[in-house]
Amino acid sequence: MSMFGAVGFSLTTKSRHLLLRSLQRKGCAARCISTTPFPEFDDLVDIKTHEDLHKFSLEQPDTFWSRLARSRLTWNKDFSTVSKCDFKTGQLEWFVEGTLNASVNCVDRHLKERGDQVALIWERDEPGTHVYLTYKELSEMVGRIGNLLRNSGVKAGDRVAIYLPKTPMAIATMLACARIGAIHSVVFAGFSADALAGRIQDAEAQTVVTANQTVRGGRIIELKQTVDAAVSKCPGVKQVLVYNRTETKVPMGKLDIDMVEAMAHESPDCPVEERNSEDTLFMLYTSGSTGKPKGITHSTAGYLLYTNVTFKHAFDYNPGEIFGCVADIGWITGHSYALYGPLSNGGTTLLFESTPLYPDPGRYWEMVERLKLDHIYLAPTSLRMLLKAGDEYVKKYDRSSLRKLGCVGEPLNSEAWEWYYNVVGEKRCDIIDTWWQTETGGICISPRPSEPGAEIRPGMPMRPMLGIDLALVDTQGAEVTGEDCEGALCIRRPWPGIARTIHGDHQRYFETYFKPMPGMYYTGDGAHRHKGGYYQITGRMDDVLNVSGHRLGTAEIEDVMDDHIDVAESAVVGFPHEIKGEGIYAYVVLKDTRTLGKKEIETQLRAGIKKRIGNLAQPDMILFTPGLPRTRSGKIMRRILRKVASDKPDELGDISTLSEPEVVDYIVKKHEQLR
Ligand code: PRX
Repeated sequence: MSMFGAVGFSLTTKSRHLLLRSLQRKGCAARCISTTPFPEFDDLVDIKTHEDLHKFSLEQPDTFWSRLARSRLTWNKDFSTVSKCDFKTGQLEWFVEGTLNASVNCVDRHLKERGDQVALIWERDEPGTHVYLTYKELSEMVGRIGNLLRNSGVKAGDRVAIYLPKTPMAIATMLACARIGAIHSVVFAGFSADALAGRIQDAEAQTVVTANQTVRGGRIIELKQTVDAAVSKCPGVKQVLVYNRTETKVPMGKLDIDMVEAMAHESPDCPVEERNSEDTLFMLYTSGSTGKPKGITHSTAGYLLYTNVTFKHAFDYNPGEIFGCVADIGWITGHSYALYGPLSNGGTTLLFESTPLYPDPGRYWEMVERLKLDHIYLAPTSLRMLLKAGDEYVKKYDRSSLRKLGCVGEPLNSEAWEWYYNVVGEKRCDIIDTWWQTETGGICISPRPSEPGAEIRPGMPMRPMLGIDLALVDTQGAEVTGEDCEGALCIRRPWPGIARTIHGDHQRYFETYFKPMPGMYYTGDGAHRHKGGYYQITGRMDDVLNVSGHRLGTAEIEDVMDDHIDVAESAVVGFPHEIKGEGIYAYVVLKDTRTLGKKEIETQLRAGIKKRIGNLAQPDMILFTPGLPRTRSGKIMRRILRKVASDKPDELGDISTLSEPEVVDYIVKKHEQLR
């Protein structure tokens, strides 16, 4: 079997492990020598504390970022303009004249010193069958895929849709795109055929990369079937590369290419496409409060530098450590902290293909013991799920390798924080609660942006990263100053990792992020600034849901339901959910002319959501109502719908201004019956 084959990756697990541990020990020796976290600024005598460096990064951003860019990235051609940015117009450019290549920065430049070091640990779905890949092996894969793509007609600037499980093949394909200058657009392999088709069409991708099947939590998922259904709606697709993740043969059509077989005919040496700093590295779709998902695009140099720097400093990553970001590659966390951050730092990164409950709720901790992870980076929703299963699943495994416990995606509630700190980390490990977004490219708020040993407070991400200038703004657009106050979280100054546009719709980009608070980047989140200037996120201020750390627009779900022939209108809101953080609650008004029963309609609505978006958007509750509460001007009162869904009928406030207040009584009663 070839080294890329289904079960393949020829080298034995044991030899890889020994190799890795010996390198780790070397890394450990190196990290015992104390070095300053930012050697780039050692000559600046006035900088002694994190606050000094943060101030410097805001006051002299060009000096700050150019020093980092030159020391942390490898360039083909140097830049002379550090930044050309204006939040008033949405123009954002960094390291303007520079040229470089992201795959060189993530792979080639490490080959001389760490070619035999493990780059990827593929934690396959089946426990105990992990596979190690060195930088040399990764380089060979990237080269072959790069040549395959190029020889199949993919050119610089073309979009390539990737619908793959979290495997070395996914990482190597992303890097291969970067190598030849193509733009990858990874679509989470849990999205439906319709959702995938919409993203392929919007990106005008002519090439799709997928797998025959994938395995998740012991279940086979027919990826190729989903891709076939999607591609049948995308006449622009010219080829589909199919990686055989399992031994099962799937029907291959005239567009399909057996990826592993084709790679065998390609050379591992793939010429590098020199990219301008501002050339798009990738796009990734995410939900907004209205409209269809938006293709957020990230630049090559700015994004790469920002993930490189934030990865190293938010987690205090040291050479030789194993970083375990368990997020899927279909989300930004997988892009920034399973791929670009760790690999641009020459690190060892984990590719977790399974689920936290398979084969039982001890999976993460058994994996920590077996692979000796130094860091784990996960979503609060999985912690809430695991803590319910009991401490035995944690305690029976040795977690002494762990040093940092990270999390992202939703607020880390205090019960989960305590459990993570006391039980998982045995009060030994730092909890790194990081706040950021698909659009920010990398971490913007985190407990220790540069200062090992700084105080960490439970339940908040705390401090702005270097170069990040946070502001809170009230509903009138005025800045909220002082401490112990709340407002809309904004960022006052540009940073290299910020997204550059929405694919094909720069106007929407400008209006979403720069119009609400002129001169600032508007995050859409609310935040509380505590004493000491520490930030805590209070949640979204718009109609974006955060379900198990997955971002969904209420409008996307409403659109599917409204298309049902018997539905007059619908309104979707979020409500606090013990495990998922936020649950989905749908209020549906049926037409008088309907012919089907409510049960049947509900079944069809659920099938529609599964088909058009994916099961991750399935409502926890569907409530049929004769009407929706509206103001006299016709605006749906979502505030009231949220209160009912959250079991807070006593907090509805004044409803006398509604056009039909009796609708509220109906909804409250119906909700009580259903819960
Ligand atoms: O509401 C915030 C929440 O997740 C949103 C961004 O979602 P997405 O673009 O999918 O990226 C998630 C991973 C970076 C934010 O607007 N969020 C993210 N991190 C936190 C958080 N909410 C509270 N605390 C966090 N640490």
